Amino acid sequence: MRLLKVFVAVMFVPLLVLPLVVSRSASSQTIAQAPTGFDGKTNGLTDQAAFDADRKAFEERDEIADGLGPVYNAQSCSECHQSPITGGISQVTVLRAGHRDRAGNFVEAPGGSLVHDRAIDARLQEVVTPEEDIRSFRTSLNVLGDGFVEAIDDNTLVDIARNQPRQSGGLINGQVIRVPVLEAPGITRVGRFGWKNQHASLMSFSADAYLNEIGITSFLLPQENTSWGRSVANFDSVPDVEDTDNDIEIFTRFMRATQAPSRDEMLAATPEARAGAQIFNQIGCAICHVPNIVTAPAGTSFNGGAFIVPPALGSKMIHPYSDFLLHDVGTGDGIVQNGGPSTANKLRTPPLWGLRTRNRFMHDGLLLTYDEAIRRHRGEAGQVIQRFNQLTEPQRGQLIRFLRSL
Ligand code: HEC
Ligand code: HEC
Repeated sequence: MRLLKVFVAVMFVPLLVLPLVVSRSASSQTIAQAPTGFDGKTNGLTDQAAFDADRKAFEERDEIADGLGPVYNAQSCSECHQSPITGGISQVTVLRAGHRDRAGNFVEAPGGSLVHDRAIDARLQEVVTPEEDIRSFRTSLNVLGDGFVEAIDDNTLVDIARNQPRQSGGLINGQVIRVPVLEAPGITRVGRFGWKNQHASLMSFSADAYLNEIGITSFLLPQENTSWGRSVANFDSVPDVEDTDNDIEIFTRFMRATQAPSRDEMLAATPEARAGAQIFNQIGCAICHVPNIVTAPAGTSFNGGAFIVPPALGSKMIHPYSDFLLHDVGTGDGIVQNGGPSTANKLRTPPLWGLRTRNRFMHDGLLLTYDEAIRRHRGEAGQVIQRFNQLTEPQRGQLIRFLRSL
């Protein structure tokens, strides 16, 4: 430890100014820790009975008679968001594809970059053609605690981005994108959900996932997907809008009422994991994987009044280990969603809360150890990874212990 301290003091003085808590406008209210746990309890936004009822909708399997497909990926939200409890993650990946035009711009595969893995009729199965030579898998993400993420003020994320070049000597420069909020036409907000920060609202994400993963149209997205650009109307007997129970509002309420992922407290309390947490801050992992963020105060109005921060989500300290910004860490997949051409090779810093519930890492899920995941970072993370490589073997062990406790 002593060695590391000297090493850090000499080499990384600028990093020590790392702000430990990032917040805007929450100072006048008392800040409480957001509730955490993988125990299926509500965070207090709704009572437990209502929460359990909402969860059932998130777990409900849609059949063809409900409007499933015609092209789709799975039958329920929880099929892909399931482990260790409903709303967590899964090994399921989805497939995206497209190509570049002559000018070098990304062009989606026919009918959209999401290539559906299943169909209700063999004739509708989508298969990637050779021309669509930009391809990527995307792992399922955790939605637990996402209500708190939605309640982060835009300016908090803008401030994090603004401070990064100063903390890192200029290399790290997270990108903020503003994306449309479907339920508030004409309004944009800082994107924070999905591997490409393609959404800022859980309601918008719910409508998007209901249509694109399950094939159910809703009042926000009333038009069916195509099969590789061809109409599926002849195969679809259920009239649009198919979401007649307003499930997208129920999914949204369920996700907003979830607790954030908890730490493995026993492991986190060990001297090794504590030392690892310090190393994580000192070598600069925390510049992107931000440990502490405070949500906006209760009563704050977002999305043109469509989302008023409720007391259960307001002025809460969360530990997401993410800045919710886009970065080029040398792993870019070339795909553009809501952010325009400059985001083609960027990905959102994945929140590391709940990391111990995952075993396939990075957007494509192709790496299987923490060490490999860390070493794959390049680009903006280059300097930080150099410092990681300079750690002693025991120090690297401490860092990994810390990651295991998340
Ligand atoms: C076939 C698997 C699958 C199904 C079914 C599915 N999802 Fe997802 N979900 C994913 C994947 C994969 C991602 C990451 C996608 C990306 O960003 O490219 C994701 C991301 C999300 C996110 C963003 C989480 C974050 O913190 O960034 C939300 C919210 C979400 N899904 C909600 C839902 C809801 C609601 C449903 C049901 C209507 C649903 N999902 C159904 C696979 C699925
Ligand atoms: C410049 C910002 C940045 C820095 C610095 C950084 N990361 Fe990351 N990290 C990312 C991004 C972006 C990804 C996702 C890359 C991808 O999916 O292709 C990522 C992915 C990861 C993952 C995989 C998570 C998952 O769920 O798949 C781990 C683990 C991780 N980082 C740990 C670290 C550690 C430890 C350090 C310090 C040694 C570090 N990172 C430094 C931005 C950063």
